[in-house]
Amino acid sequence: MDLDPADVSSNPSTATSFAEVVQSRLSRRAALTGGMAVAAGFLTTSLAEAPAASAAPGRAVPRAADLLGFTPVPLSTADEIRVPVGYTATAFLPWGTPITGSFPQFVPGGNTAAEQEQQVGMHHDGMHYFPLERGPGGNERGLLVLNHEYTDEAYLQTGTATMPPAADWTLEMVRRSQAAHGVSVVEIHRGEGGRWAVARSRLNRRITATTPMSFAGPAAGHALLRTTADPDGIRPLGTVNNCSHGVTPWGTYLTCEENFNGYFRVEPGAYSPEQAALSSRYGVGGDRNLWATNDERFVVTPDEANEPNRFGWVVEIDPFDPGSTPVKRTALGRVKHEGAFVHVTKGGRVVVYTGDDQVNEYMYKFVSSGSWQSLRARGRSPLDEGTLYVARFDDDGSGHWLPLVHGQGPLTEANGFTDQGDVLVRTRLAASALGATRMDRPEWATVDPTTGMVYLTLTNNTSSAKVENAANPRKPNPWGHIIRWQEAGGDHAATTFEWDLFLLAGQGRSSGDGSTLADEDAFGSPDGLWADPDGRVWIQTDGTQPTGANDQMLAANPHRTDAADVPEIRRFLTGVVNCEVTGVVTTPDQRTMFVNIQHPGDGGGSTWPRLDGISTPRSATVIVTKDDGGVIGT
Ligand code: FEO
Ligand code: CA
Ligand code: CA
Repeated sequence: MDLDPADVSSNPSTATSFAEVVQSRLSRRAALTGGMAVAAGFLTTSLAEAPAASAAPGRAVPRAADLLGFTPVPLSTADEIRVPVGYTATAFLPWGTPITGSFPQFVPGGNTAAEQEQQVGMHHDGMHYFPLERGPGGNERGLLVLNHEYTDEAYLQTGTATMPPAADWTLEMVRRSQAAHGVSVVEIHRGEGGRWAVARSRLNRRITATTPMSFAGPAAGHALLRTTADPDGIRPLGTVNNCSHGVTPWGTYLTCEENFNGYFRVEPGAYSPEQAALSSRYGVGGDRNLWATNDERFVVTPDEANEPNRFGWVVEIDPFDPGSTPVKRTALGRVKHEGAFVHVTKGGRVVVYTGDDQVNEYMYKFVSSGSWQSLRARGRSPLDEGTLYVARFDDDGSGHWLPLVHGQGPLTEANGFTDQGDVLVRTRLAASALGATRMDRPEWATVDPTTGMVYLTLTNNTSSAKVENAANPRKPNPWGHIIRWQEAGGDHAATTFEWDLFLLAGQGRSSGDGSTLADEDAFGSPDGLWADPDGRVWIQTDGTQPTGANDQMLAANPHRTDAADVPEIRRFLTGVVNCEVTGVVTTPDQRTMFVNIQHPGDGGGSTWPRLDGISTPRSATVIVTKDDGGVIGT
């Protein structure tokens, strides 16, 4: 989602940045004069001639220079999905698709809360496909697990763009809204004619804003997490604003709580001065969706001030066990988590990259204390034991991961941090104390499996509070950029790295906006990001596009650059009117791609996907195939 009023800064940190010292901006070329020049040279020469590292089994491995084989599609303002010639896109699993219980049919504005709990939620976002069989069968039968980031209450409650009056809001309306949030787990099969369909499977499941969950890790049971309903601080209820995601090597799904702060109404005098500082940094308040009108859990009072602290976490879900309790893993910190992108080191340690999407907030990574196999063999979760770090990007192209460990550096009792649980509940404040680098809204991250390079989208930053620094060099930054780094020694558990700017998004290189893109590849507001097994970097957008066009998805080939060192980028898909393009994954053979279209017609103008004669705009998944059955992107 693009908006949270949120997207204004609440970070008052005064950490000194490069730009503040030298009043200078680094271009990508300037950045490459540092240590990364060596790495970049390697990427554009040696690898361009080499095969990509990890193509799907049973097919020819593409040369890295030839990763992109499709003809780019032009920018679009049409209310339809467009993909390259030779590809087909089909809408699937729209909001309201029945998946559990009595499989209630979708009726725009006419389903009860109980029915919505048995249907796919609203506003699809991060997503993963888990094959249900080993071998080729896994390409035709799997679990699609997808987040539902937020709701459009007008369409949800009435099926139209007209909001009911706030004075008429009922508990049933609140419950309907809460049921449209969360996560869907859906077993899907590929049948005759290549068409995908929902299976009536015992694995199908809805997780919502009221699903019982548990806390684990250092902050579980902490005084800041206790409420009257849960005096032990270990049994939170529900998950909200599930933005992007992650996948663990042991087959679980991580869903991330982003703009949770907006769902609460804060009563006057609810906070002590310390609580007020915490609440202010996370921007708690706003009574979004009017939940507080009928659900006291979302009203913050002097006696019940901790419920907001029970959101902002990464939640682990076992999609293969429909009876399992989702777990909020506190060791990964409490921020407006965009995603939780997992990489496994050669030694088996789990590394989780997670951005905090707000103006001037930070980039984090968690590193497990040992190999995931050894920890799980001892009955421990690799996501409970380890170190959370925050990133500092220095102007010379080097970077440092700063540990958020109680008792180390400034994170002491003398400075008001009582224990590790306190550090984690107040992650943003601890990261500021460490002098982390303020960023232009960190969104998705991904690791290119062929090079180990980590990529991160910084979506945009037009706030007057924006901080310029070498890693976020444009002010204002209406179009966003993509940064990348290589961990020291190729070890993702390392505490240092070298970074450069992969590209500056924008209207094109002739437009005077400082972008590093050719006009035909222009885009803005990069958000979703995924390096596929061959090393294609898929880029999805959420926000302002050149010439007012619809949001889009592009593919970059980092191994092929032009004379100006700009990577090859081709536009692969254009979305519908007033949507965001987000969530991307393929089947293991890379021949079926799933892409999410979120909030079509946000502000009007769309009737997509126009299924079953319904003109209410509905978020949905798009299935993309190549007509010759080939790998997506070739
Ligand atoms: Fe949910 Fe930052 O996008
Ligand atoms: Ca976004
Ligand atoms: Ca996003």
